[in-house]
Amino acid sequence: MAYELPPLPYAREALEPHLSAETIDYHYGKHHQKYVTKLNQLTEGGEHADKTLEQIIADAGSGPVFNNAAQVWNHNFYWNCLSPEGGGAPEGPLAAAIEAGFGSLEGFQDEFTQAVVDLFGVGWVWLVKDGEGMVSVIATKDAVNPLTHGRVALLTCDVWEHAFYIDYRNDKAAYMDAFWKLVNWRFVEERYTTT
Ligand SMILES: [Fe+2]
Repeated sequence: MAYELPPLPYAREALEPHLSAETIDYHYGKHHQKYVTKLNQLTEGGEHADKTLEQIIADAGSGPVFNNAAQVWNHNFYWNCLSPEGGGAPEGPLAAAIEAGFGSLEGFQDEFTQAVVDLFGVGWVWLVKDGEGMVSVIATKDAVNPLTHGRVALLTCDVWEHAFYIDYRNDKAAYMDAFWKLVNWRFVEERYTTT
């Protein structure tokens, strides 16, 4: 079973002017694709060949197989966290959980944005849910994701330079202004209530 690059949930230019088609061409078309291709090369005929991405992430330990499987999972998830119809505010149980965890939506967004700005090197920032339904912000290095921390991922921001450098150069805060205009809260709400 070969791993595949899932279709983007929107056209490559659909996130403009916040994220350019050029960024998506490279980020989705080259970086994400390369992780898929590499994972297939690394797993073909081996002990991980027929596993799901989640099984590999749980089983592979550290190293190239884990890194490429986790980066495929992380990017699949990231594209679903964005939408041309995104932005605005969460509703329902997720909105209540964010208020309970951070005091307000603005409090959450400030903490999440600060975690992105403060992340040294490359990685990901996540909104996660624990077993009690409480939400928090965590940052992970390189390819690591909340699955390895036993928590449920609700929302992520890619903090590798390939995610923002074409559009925003070194200005992570400007990338985050764009990110909040694209967040697909309907996807995050569904994750909160169904996972
Ligand atoms: Fe990326």
